[in-house]
Amino acid sequence: MLSILAIVASYLLGSVSFSYLFGKWFKGIDIRKHGSGNAGATNTLRVLGKGPAILVLLLDGFKGVAAVLLGVWAASGPDHIWIRVLCGLAAIIGHNWPVYFGFRGGKGIATTIGVMATLAFLPTLIAGITAIVIIAVTRFVSLGSLILTALLPFLLWGMDRPIPIVWISILLCVFAFIRHRTNIVKLIQGKENKLGQKRA
Ligand code: G3P
Repeated sequence: MLSILAIVASYLLGSVSFSYLFGKWFKGIDIRKHGSGNAGATNTLRVLGKGPAILVLLLDGFKGVAAVLLGVWAASGPDHIWIRVLCGLAAIIGHNWPVYFGFRGGKGIATTIGVMATLAFLPTLIAGITAIVIIAVTRFVSLGSLILTALLPFLLWGMDRPIPIVWISILLCVFAFIRHRTNIVKLIQGKENKLGQKRA
């Protein structure tokens, strides 16, 4: 029972869309109608600037950390890893499809990093550093995000992490590719936004 409550609470926590709230508070706008239309840190950078973007990145990441910790607190039996994984997954689902904001949220990358770093720190650190290098070289945040999620299952499997964590990373990779489908089309067409570029 406690585990189910933790999963539901994780979804409700993940549903708090900080980029949407900051857009409303700082500029009185719906961020989903500006820039790329995504409720996430990258679009916050485009629309609201550096300070709010860093805060959104940290807070969205923290939602993932908090959800997994909620799972740690809620379950200690043989299923404990599954409960942690499901809490993390619920937070990312909340971020992508938030109950408070018409189920139109972000692409889940910052929250995915928070969840995966809490479940498996070293593989996530390696994937994160790789993504940062890719973003620094290409200036495409979407490309870095996609490569990060695509690398994680291989790293987790290669580094012998528990199977539920490998499974969630595969699912999160699928989520990321679905949520980035317009980015993928733009990348192929050479029309994707570069970091620091103002317009979508
Ligand atoms: O995490 C989102 C990022 O990968 C792409 O964001 O706003 O450029 O679609 P955006």
